[in-house]
Formats: sequence, structure tokens, C-alpha cells
Amino acid sequence: MNFPAELISLLRRSRAPKLVALTGAGVSQESGLRTFRDAQTGLWAQYKPEDLASPQAFRRDPKLIWDWYAWRREAVKGVRPNAGHYALVDIAKHIPEFTLITQNVDGLHHMAFQTLRDSESLKVLPSIIELHGNIQRVRCSECYTFAEVWGDDTESVPRCSVCGGLLRPDVVWFGEALPRDQLEAAVEAARTCDVFFSIGTSGVVQPAASLAHAARNRGAVVIEVNAEPTPLTSKANYAFHGKSGEILPELVKAVWLNDT
Ligand code: OAD
Repeated sequence: MNFPAELISLLRRSRAPKLVALTGAGVSQESGLRTFRDAQTGLWAQYKPEDLASPQAFRRDPKLIWDWYAWRREAVKGVRPNAGHYALVDIAKHIPEFTLITQNVDGLHHMAFQTLRDSESLKVLPSIIELHGNIQRVRCSECYTFAEVWGDDTESVPRCSVCGGLLRPDVVWFGEALPRDQLEAAVEAARTCDVFFSIGTSGVVQPAASLAHAARNRGAVVIEVNAEPTPLTSKANYAFHGKSGEILPELVKAVWLNDT
């Protein structure tokens, strides 16, 4: 892939730009996880994810929703970050003011940064904002207490040890508000950054989708990396279409590993 020279010098600047990367399900696709809007398989093929990820669905049939998340937790088990996740770690090594905002609930960004933390120290660890929660955390649907242990393979939905309420995954469902502190931090990062990457996201779910526009309106350079064009493409300063696990490592190489 050929990257424009002005983009390379912007990222290489001696006073590094303040950078934000917003990621979506496409980033995890090369790890073997289906994107949100891909068709589901097997038992779950008859449902649209939008019809399962909602408080109404949980109220209607909590066991169905619990089982769907148990299935997704199982799918995430054994899955590893891919070259795209690691390229973002490489970017963080070169850009001290780097905020990673993800809509993914799979925890793979954390895992990629953890691998690096274990092997070499990053000068400054980037903040990772999980806008839609994390599938590995489970909490009470009534009193919000987090559960340390629970059974996935139970006859009925496990209950909270404090109040007896039904347990649920600590993720954001359609129609629910995003965690306020995470959203505020994401908006602030988007409004004050110099460079904003939108990676592997269809850009149709609010408020995450509006972050790129907030950055653009404040004068940031917006770069899209996605398998296909999205509603953001025409507004972005640069758009690269293909796999993030290929494009991002190539970009890191072009910016920081080449002298030309
Ligand atoms: P989507 O499934 O809507 O979009 C994934 C995007 O990634 C698509 O545009 C694909 O073309 C692209 N893609 C697929 N494979 C790719 C690859 N290897 N490299 C780069 N791009 C690739 O997922 P999200 O945009 O993350 O929220 O969906 C946003 C939110 O919608 C989710 O977090 C979820 C859902 O509603 C909630 O559950 C609250």
C-alpha cells in the first residue's frame, strides 16, 4: 500500500501528534471473531444480534440472552490479538499521547498491550476506553454488583449473591446509555486530538460514530482503515480499504521503520 508522504511526515513529526484510534469489530475479524453485522452461525443464525443485545430481549427471555453471551465468551476463549492489534501497540510506542477507544467487548486490545507490557516497558501506557463494556465482566442487572464467579452452563440465569437479581454481561445494549465517564473521556480525546483513526467499524452506531466527525470539525486529520467504504469515507482526509491486520502494520513500517 502506498501512503501519502504528507501523512507519513505528520505521524513522524518530532513533536508527535496527539492521536486517537477508534476501533470496531473489523479489527478482531482476523483473530477469527465475526463482526457484529456478519451473519451469525449455527444455533444463533435465526437471530439478528440487534434483537439479542437489548434490555427488552433480556426481560423477555433472560436465559436466551445469557446463553448467547456464554456462547460469545466461549468464542473469545483461545482467541488471540492479530497483527492489527499489535500495530496499534507499535503506534503507542511512538506516540506518547495516544488514546485507544474501542467498541469491541472482546478484550483483545488489552491482551495485546499486556503482551507488550510483559516483554518490554512502554514509556507511557495508552488509555483504552471500552465504550461498550467487556464481555468477560458480569454484573447484577439490579444492583450493579460485579460477580467474581458464575456458571455459564446453568439451567437458569445465575443470580446476584447480594440481592438475588439476575446476572448479565457488563456490556452496553441497544437503547442503554454508555458508561458516562468513558463516553466523556472519548469525546474529550476526539475533540482535542490532531489525528483520528477510524478502524474496522461500519460507523453506523451512535454515539461512537460521531467521534470521528467531532474530531474532523475540530480540525483533526481523519484516517479511515476499513474493509469497505462507510458513511465516514467521504468525510475522511485519507481512507484505506482492506484488512486492518495488513494495512496498519504496513503503515507502522512506512512511518517508523523506513528512512525514506
Ligand atoms: P460492524 O460489524 O458494524 O462493522 C465492522 C466493519 O469492519 C465493517 O464495515 C466491515 O467491512 C469491517 N471489516 C471487516 N473485516 C475487517 C478487517 N479485517 N479489517 C478492517 N475492517 C474490517 O461492527 P462495529 O462497527 O464495531 O454495539 O459495530 C458497532 C457496534 O454495533 C458494536 O459495538 C455493537 C453493535 O451495535 C453494541 O452492541 C452496543
